[in-house]
Amino acid sequence: MKIFLVGFMGSGKSSLGRKLAHYINYHFLDLDKLIEAKVQMTIAEYFALYGEGSFRQLEKDVLQSSEYGVNTIIATGGGSPCYFDNINWMNQQGKTVYLSMKAASLADRLINSKRERPLIQGFNHEELVNYIKTKLEGREVYYRQAQFMVSGTDMTAEKLAGYLGISPVG
Ligand code: S3P
Repeated sequence: MKIFLVGFMGSGKSSLGRKLAHYINYHFLDLDKLIEAKVQMTIAEYFALYGEGSFRQLEKDVLQSSEYGVNTIIATGGGSPCYFDNINWMNQQGKTVYLSMKAASLADRLINSKRERPLIQGFNHEELVNYIKTKLEGREVYYRQAQFMVSGTDMTAEKLAGYLGISPVG
């Protein structure tokens, strides 16, 4: 089973994904890391050199052409489900989970880790909340196409495994 975690930057896709993989004995992959390995630079560097349009094409190519193997959890990037046919493609490949969180909580998490995230570089807390609110409005249409929607705020690997009907020993 492949499980794709989707949601806004800061919603915990990578950290929760890693914990869930450990708990249910799955492999874990981070799409941003696969992209960085492919182009041999950070995503921030790629954005600066080639721009967002080029990044979205690259993101789609890496998402849809990587070998995931069986029993893998994939943490996607915040924009991944919102471009091309990516969310439909993920829905066809396995289970998709939207980690939902409010803009203010996302901003609290992101304010300390915005340096590696090209879309939110240089924002103060208020600018960040406003940016997230606007962006979330557009993106929720895609995020909500995921098969499962859970709150990212207090989510644990144990709870998520339960929602997905996967037992830790399986
Ligand atoms: C992006 C989110 C990032 C990364 C890129 C663009 C976005 O991933 O893919 O900076 O458009 O929301 P994370 O959600 O893992 O930060």
